[in-house]
Amino acid sequence: MLMMAMNLAALGGMAKGETPFDATAAKMAAANLANLGGKDTGFLWLPGSEAGKAQDSSALAPIFTEVDKRNQMFKSLADATAAMQTVAGTDAARLKGAMGAVGEACAACHKAYRQPE
Ligand code: HEC
Repeated sequence: MLMMAMNLAALGGMAKGETPFDATAAKMAAANLANLGGKDTGFLWLPGSEAGKAQDSSALAPIFTEVDKRNQMFKSLADATAAMQTVAGTDAARLKGAMGAVGEACAACHKAYRQPE
């Protein structure tokens, strides 16, 4: 998750114009995200590691049992990051356009399965 956040933050800075657009860096960060988004993290979601049971966890218990829904959410993330990867090296506007779906995929799962701070 922290790796995803780091790479997304780099892309977000460029998309918003806070940092200059750098095609090489954008391609690299998008490739990292697509790679992370496509990973099978099923083994990480273990009952007993939810908020309140494991130290520093903010995972909500239904993420362990709602496997289909969870997989679907990871699939949306994988699709969105793959789409972003195809345009990341072109320009900031297209990068920004593709970022929306990635942010939505992150947010949808956090809304469902992550305890609000
Ligand atoms: C399929 C569900 C899902 C998707 C998709 C998802 N997350 Fe998460 N994320 C979680 C859950 C659940 C937690 C809480 C984990 C915990 O506390 O153990 C979390 C926690 C985090 C954290 C807090 C640090 C941590 O490790 O607890 C960050 C940062 C984060 N996610 C970033 C992202 C970003 C950026 C994306 C999209 C590129 C993303 N996440 C996509 C489920 C998801």
